[in-house]
Amino acid sequence: MAARGAWAAAVMVMVAVMMSLANAQRQQQGPCLFVFGDSLVDNGNNNNIQSLARANYLPYGVDYPDGPTGRFSNGKTSVDVIAELLGIDQPILPYSSASGQDVLRGVNFASAAAGIRQETGMQLGARIAFSEQVNNYKNTAAEVVNILGDEDSAANYIGKCVFSVGMGSNDYLNNYFMPQYYQTSQQYTPEEYADALIQEYTHQIQALYNYGARKFALIGISQIGCSPNSLAQGSPDGRTCVERINGANRMFNDRLYTLVDEFNSNSQDANFTYINAYAIFQDLIANPSPYGFRVTNAGCCGVGRNNGQITCLPLQTPCSNREEYVFWDAFHPTERANTIIGRRSFRAEKASDSHPYDIRQLAQI
Ligand SMILES: *[C@@H]1O[C@H](CO)[C@@H](O)[C@H](O)[C@H]1NC(C)=O
Repeated sequence: MAARGAWAAAVMVMVAVMMSLANAQRQQQGPCLFVFGDSLVDNGNNNNIQSLARANYLPYGVDYPDGPTGRFSNGKTSVDVIAELLGIDQPILPYSSASGQDVLRGVNFASAAAGIRQETGMQLGARIAFSEQVNNYKNTAAEVVNILGDEDSAANYIGKCVFSVGMGSNDYLNNYFMPQYYQTSQQYTPEEYADALIQEYTHQIQALYNYGARKFALIGISQIGCSPNSLAQGSPDGRTCVERINGANRMFNDRLYTLVDEFNSNSQDANFTYINAYAIFQDLIANPSPYGFRVTNAGCCGVGRNNGQITCLPLQTPCSNREEYVFWDAFHPTERANTIIGRRSFRAEKASDSHPYDIRQLAQI
């Protein structure tokens, strides 16, 4: 009898230990990343919508393990690189196909041609504007509540995830600097336009905060005036960046930087950082050889002057030396350039890369 009692007690202890191990495992938080943005980071959300801004055909994805996925690159995007560096072991899925437990490692809401403003990108067809991306995120947040069982657990979980927001490029490219389709350049000076964009942007960030986001990486606009498309259209020598566009981009970035400081000083329980994509990109273009780049002013795949007239066409043959190109097509970086941008966003190499800290530090808070 005594032996049997001891045996039973030992079994119960073992069961208790196993249960608490399982519990610890369930509660352990993996890294997670939620992504808001445009074609620079879209990974398939536009594949099934009526849009000219799609990239689910070769040679897009020619260097990606799954081939063409909708990514506007030959391979990975900068957020793919950031997700890997965060330690997320599988690619984050686009909102259009993410479901079940997969959403716990994060979801990508980005949509090519989308902007902060509703009308931005409309000449290309359907797209998911920033405010709609935020609405989609609310559905995902509700799904996290379902998976984890209650709102407190979901808030606790989501509060540790990184929220990457890279919006605004199309509000210039496919709005302000496209006067044949849009009125904004007649309605606003560049300063006023940047103010209006930041005001709308602020509302969306507050909505994300209201639905649990606490760690924000706000990505500045890159140098759009240096894209092969801008060079093809507005650079006399095909090499000098278009300052009219870059200057407007800097106005937006200056305000975004200030917004980060304001949010950080006014918020009790959230952290914000600014990623200086503009400066990182400038570095690549001004000083390409240490990175192994040889061509900074033309797309690897494209049509016309600087390969910058339009994007890469279906089944077009791209350049073979892709690692020597900063740009994959008229607008979007190669995987190689995205890798450098992603790495420097994650771990700053220069003090100017991020403010006040990089994404690695943001994740560790
Ligand atoms: C993160 O935000 C909290 C609340 O505003 C603040 O107390 C803390 O210092 C911030 N962390 C860093 C590293 O700035």
